[in-house]
Amino acid sequence: MPPRHFLAIPDLSRAELTALLDLAERMRRRVYDRKPLAGRSLAMIFMKSSTRTRVSFEVGVWQLGGHALFLSPRDCQLGRGEPIADTARVLSRYVDGIMIRTFAQADVEELARYASVPVINGLTDLLHPCQVLADVLTVRQAFGTLEGKAVAWVGDGNNVANSWINAAFRFGFPLTLACPDGYEPDPAILARAQREGSAPVRVVRDPGEAVAGAHVVTTDVWASMGQESEQERRARAFAGYCVDRRLMTRAAPDAIFLHCLPAHRGEEVSADVIDGPQSRVWDEAENRLHVQKALMTMLIAVEENA
Ligand code: CP
Ligand code: NVA
Repeated sequence: MPPRHFLAIPDLSRAELTALLDLAERMRRRVYDRKPLAGRSLAMIFMKSSTRTRVSFEVGVWQLGGHALFLSPRDCQLGRGEPIADTARVLSRYVDGIMIRTFAQADVEELARYASVPVINGLTDLLHPCQVLADVLTVRQAFGTLEGKAVAWVGDGNNVANSWINAAFRFGFPLTLACPDGYEPDPAILARAQREGSAPVRVVRDPGEAVAGAHVVTTDVWASMGQESEQERRARAFAGYCVDRRLMTRAAPDAIFLHCLPAHRGEEVSADVIDGPQSRVWDEAENRLHVQKALMTMLIAVEENA
């Protein structure tokens, strides 16, 4: 049987995603104490920096009884130009799963094509699916359900925004994104959600319009990893796209604020919002651990241990 990969949220059905979140919730509540990765290893390739993704995967594998290897371009031959396809075939002979954070989504797809073990997308320029699994778990944790919850995204139509669109498409919740001209999400991802999704996914210009009545307000940095040279141009384009207290008053009274982190206080979010009572960013960061453990249990675990 070919391995099951997780390169994007729609790689799993709605039923599978719900089962994953249910398992993650049991892990969060510490009612799950099995070791389904006993004797198993995960290779973690990081072509970009990371705090949360690296630590949550490494600790998560260990908590499930397995072992994780951190591979940066400085330490492995990928950094010296060894082809992805060769790396995929070699790593598959040693490890039971590969997590990769890199630039091009096409590179992750190539890795998956040649790997004979499951590949997990730990962020590309296009997507950040593990992050948004954690975000959706955080919404369920805060409200007890996803049912009837409207989500607003404010800012760059980036990898996290694209994954929110995929989540809205799969789970069927309404999503409105406010993005400046030229910084909209991926058109193909948006078009599929609008064509095939069961709830509206809209892109607007005005942050106030996106946030009006929303239960979840979320944003991300204006310049993502790899876009550092565009920082100044982006700061000008995103003026008016800060999630501050005034904008939060447009949301539902019990609305929560999410941010994948790292955050730039005073740019995409004000300090009083991210550090204020509506913020759930620390639960959100913690939930990376739980959803990724659930994901690895579904994709990599020895069945009888899971
Ligand atoms: N949110 C997130 O992926 O954080 P890191 O870049 O620290 O992994
Ligand atoms: N959009 C950000 C997310 C970081 C976790 C980036 O790609 O840098």
